[in-house]
Amino acid sequence: MKVLVTGGAGFIGSHIVDKLIELGHKVTIIDNLTSTSGKKPEYLNPKAKFILGDVKDLNLLQKVLPETEVIFHEAASVGIAQSNYEVDPFVDNNCVGTARLLQAIINLKIKPKLIISASNTTYGEGLYSCEKHGKFHPEIRTQEEINTYGFDPVCPICKGISKPVPTPEETELNCNSIYAYTKKFQEETCLFLGKLYEFPVVLLKYFNVFGPRQSLSNPYTGVSAIFMSRVKNGNNPLVYEDGNQTRDFVSIHDVVEANILAMKKLEANYKVFNVGSGIPTTINDLAREICTLYKKDLKIETTNKFRKGDIRHCISDTTRIKEIGWSPKVGISEGLREIYEWAKNQEAVDHFDKANEELKEKGLI
Ligand SMILES: NC(=O)c1ccc[n+]([C@@H]2O[C@H](COP(=O)([O-])OP(=O)(O)OC[C@H]3O[C@@H](n4cnc5c(N)ncnc54)[C@H](O)[C@@H]3O)[C@@H](O)[C@H]2O)c1
Ligand SMILES: [Zn+2]
Repeated sequence: MKVLVTGGAGFIGSHIVDKLIELGHKVTIIDNLTSTSGKKPEYLNPKAKFILGDVKDLNLLQKVLPETEVIFHEAASVGIAQSNYEVDPFVDNNCVGTARLLQAIINLKIKPKLIISASNTTYGEGLYSCEKHGKFHPEIRTQEEINTYGFDPVCPICKGISKPVPTPEETELNCNSIYAYTKKFQEETCLFLGKLYEFPVVLLKYFNVFGPRQSLSNPYTGVSAIFMSRVKNGNNPLVYEDGNQTRDFVSIHDVVEANILAMKKLEANYKVFNVGSGIPTTINDLAREICTLYKKDLKIETTNKFRKGDIRHCISDTTRIKEIGWSPKVGISEGLREIYEWAKNQEAVDHFDKANEELKEKGLI
């Protein structure tokens, strides 16, 4: 099949490209190389046609798209906290970029399958359950609530302790950042126009994706890569809150499989799927595991500070994607070891302190 991968030079896109090439598809990449500072990454698959270009370039899209049967739309600006003070560039790249892609599809009157890299960040907090009052979906926490009740969200009725439970796709969207709002825009507009013009759309809501090729020098995205970079450089991993907040880490290989299934399965059309491991990992455990991998006796520094907008827990309910035959295969330890091996030969510049200062300066911690 003739396939386009936008953002195909990035972390997730490049792995999708490799798999598509392996399966014998004819792949074109459009990427403006912003995430690699204008450099073509050495892992770029030579069997794919690479176009240095921007998804906001309507003319380019209208040249490339005819006969394209499947589009994997991965091009976006990523970085949750950063998006809250770089509002304009995030909205411009993620919303306008997606709008141009949709415009090109409509102008050309084509009906490709459009697979969108959506995000769990649109849920904001995950679902929780109170023993007495059942399930609830809390708002984003405020500093005042944290001062009163501690870091974990409490039941809105009895203010008692609650526990996180898996978050299914029907959960209302409760965005916690400008980045999340741009991903919500992508989800909703693509699905809406897909139904209107009858081109199939699949929304894959990735949770915390991790794996080789994730930037080790971008301090804004990918907590596992950020910790790797800190530890590799002999710096203590710095943890916000008390470190007992959890994330759902899903291996890049499982994410690629979800994309391939989304492409193949007709029953995936016009649906949204969580793509997560379904397993909570505390940030403390993640940091400890990475220190152990590097055999470095570093101290995990707990700041006890709340980074405004951060969620406490959000774990995927993967019932729906399992019904179309997907299941996660790579566990956190195996996946971290893989990044560790890959990172041995990679430059990892630790910009975390600079990013942390930036957040302080903007009043976000
Ligand atoms: N990494 C995660 O954990 C995660 C989780 C949920 C969703 N996502 C989504 O997955 C997608 C891929 O993310 P990633 O982690 O691989 O990020 P990445 O930064 O590694 O890849 C994005 C790629 O898109 C390119 N790009 C950005 N804007 C572009 C534009 N206007 N035109 C052309 N190319 C452009 C960048 O140069 C980069 O190569 C994004 O849409 C992101 O929102 C990622
Ligand atoms: Zn209660």
